[in-house]
Amino acid sequence: MERKKVTIADLQRKKQNKQKITMVTAYDYPTASLVDQAGIDTILVGDSLGMVVLGYESTVPVTMEEMIHHCKAVSRGAKHSFIIGDMPFMSYHTSVERAIENAGRFIKEAGCDCVKLEGGSEMAHVVKAIVDVGIPVCAHIGLTPQTATKLSGFKVQGKDAESAKALVQSAKDLEKSGAFMIVMECIPDLLASMITDQLTIPTIGIGAGKDCDGQVLVYHDLVGLFERFTPKFVKQYINLSPQIKDALEQYKKEVDEGVFPGPEHSFAMSPEEASKI
Ligand code: KIV
Repeated sequence: MERKKVTIADLQRKKQNKQKITMVTAYDYPTASLVDQAGIDTILVGDSLGMVVLGYESTVPVTMEEMIHHCKAVSRGAKHSFIIGDMPFMSYHTSVERAIENAGRFIKEAGCDCVKLEGGSEMAHVVKAIVDVGIPVCAHIGLTPQTATKLSGFKVQGKDAESAKALVQSAKDLEKSGAFMIVMECIPDLLASMITDQLTIPTIGIGAGKDCDGQVLVYHDLVGLFERFTPKFVKQYINLSPQIKDALEQYKKEVDEGVFPGPEHSFAMSPEEASKI
């Protein structure tokens, strides 16, 4: 059967039918192509690219230009997965007009299908403004890495009743503002389950337990390409870094020893032609 491009209606239907939604990050053409071929529903071009690809200490320094550059590569590589462009820190905070303009760039220039932005009830008016001009928005609550300093670090959110209530309210406000999906990062399983039950839009968890409507993982964590640290919620499905290092060391050894390139990797010329040079 011919595979069709995933739509918001497909994601909504999955929630209604209690089928799980899959999301993985990608930041470049070959990865996007692999994720797409694996049948993953949605690709998040996350600002996590700042840490796992660009080597920054956090996601805070990531710029609009960096995001657009990587989103363009992903949209060239993914033909079926629904592509989410992550709005970087300060690209949607200074004014609603600026937020709309920047969201528009993800759609017009970079070929994304929607944008994602971090924040709870306080960001509901921004979500509404972007949705009102026709751009779908995925919200992101709980641990919001762009404002981790304000949250006093990378900690589980909503552990006590008061902060849990605030997260429930945020989720409801964001849904009311028109967000079509919501990422919940690092919150207790029970709270994530309660929010999922109370919303009509799909919830995607990362460190939020199995009852969310879907799950997201950062590609470099999933395949073992990020060695700086591994959060508790990550499951590494393959550890590629040692295998890639082995291959690189083998290549170096073979070049050093004159083993590579062999005749099978080289182009022949007859001695007769060579003698005419
Ligand atoms: O940037 C990112 O990769 C994210 C996920 C962790 C949800 O926001």
